[in-house]
Amino acid sequence: MAIRNILTYPEKSLMQPSAKVESIDEEIRTLIADMGETMFDAPGVGLAAPQVGVNKRVIVYDFHAGNPDDDGLAHEFKALINPEIIDASGSIISEKEACLSVVDFSADVKRYETVVVKALDMEGKPLEFRADGILSVIMQHEIDHLDGILFINRISVLKRTLYKKKLAKELKTN
Ligand code: NI
Repeated sequence: MAIRNILTYPEKSLMQPSAKVESIDEEIRTLIADMGETMFDAPGVGLAAPQVGVNKRVIVYDFHAGNPDDDGLAHEFKALINPEIIDASGSIISEKEACLSVVDFSADVKRYETVVVKALDMEGKPLEFRADGILSVIMQHEIDHLDGILFINRISVLKRTLYKKKLAKELKTN
């Protein structure tokens, strides 16, 4: 296992759609193990493969995210391969949503309250589950990454422009 480098906006490959995983081989298993380690090291509650420079449809997420009863439990993550949102309902504001690939910025994002996700697990077994609240937001955020969409694409043009200006200034001074 190894910690991989996390790419940050405006890296072009973050904005590209990722390819479906055709076979779950050693390369994919290593990718998943590395992504889990990279996510907890960052630390974050979700990570998508394009964030570590691999444009394949794989995400990992913190199994305990959004469940305060689980505080203090050992780090555990789940991986989803070729995840898809097959149903969505309701609406919530995800407060101060942030992303490891968008440095020093957070914003409120409108999201579905509930989603139904279909995917393959690490063994290639099909699974389907319903996610609410924080887990629902994580699913939408991470699956967006696989389509080349960042949360800053889901906020107002004004807020996004302010972020781009701030980033441009930071890149100049560094
Ligand atoms: Ni993200």
